[in-house]
Amino acid sequence: MKRKKPRENNELVKMENFLATNDELDLHSKAFEKVMFIYSVGIKELKTKLEIMQDEYKLFHDYDLIDHINTRIKTPESIYKKMQKRNLSMDYKTMIENINDIAGVRVICPLKKDIYNIREFLENIPGVNVIKEKDYITAPKKSGYSSYHMILEVPVTLSQKFMYVKVEVQIRTLAMDFWASLEHKIKYKSKKEVSKSVSKELVACAKTVQKLDHKMMLLNR
Ligand code: GTP
Ligand code: MG
Repeated sequence: MKRKKPRENNELVKMENFLATNDELDLHSKAFEKVMFIYSVGIKELKTKLEIMQDEYKLFHDYDLIDHINTRIKTPESIYKKMQKRNLSMDYKTMIENINDIAGVRVICPLKKDIYNIREFLENIPGVNVIKEKDYITAPKKSGYSSYHMILEVPVTLSQKFMYVKVEVQIRTLAMDFWASLEHKIKYKSKKEVSKSVSKELVACAKTVQKLDHKMMLLNR
């Protein structure tokens, strides 16, 4: 059988050069839709890789390494607000270069030790680059927030071009996720100021979650 020649026109392009224009951001334009499409492909690629690992662990080790995976694309309004807040110029290039959390993948696992296995898996995927990491597990935020954050560059192949797209990954346990989703509702994006005593209680709850995660890990052993 004859082997196909590799396609020479499938060239690597920078995502910010993909549009060939750097017009002002227009949230309702075809250009914006195209950029968001690239981000959604990045999410799909990464999610598939994680699901394969999830299935592999189940089959080969009889272990549920991942409980579930959530994905989201930042809304146009939210992108716009973030850029405004950071005083950024409202064009595509600036958005692609500066907003790292347009594509988001959240991986929820049963135990704390799973977080580091998932991180290692992500770090070792051929072609995927780690841009940034934040370990809010060993050093939780002042709010009490705990998770492992990574900004990855995921290769996306289209018919004529391929490019790298940034994806924000948050890895956390079920208990951390429970805390974060409630705290998020109460405080993180709330427009009203939350009282000091509520903030303090939330930090105390986060500490309880830490203890719970630790106990669960011991029980699992
Ligand atoms: P953002 O501008 O909010 O994206 O934050 P950042 O660029 O400084 O990055 P960081 O890694 O600190 O936070 C990114 C994301 O983590 C947020 O968008 C939230 O989803 C989550 N997060 C960070 N801090 C908190 C927190 O105190 N509570 C909750 N519930 N979520 C948080
Ligand atoms: Mg964010």
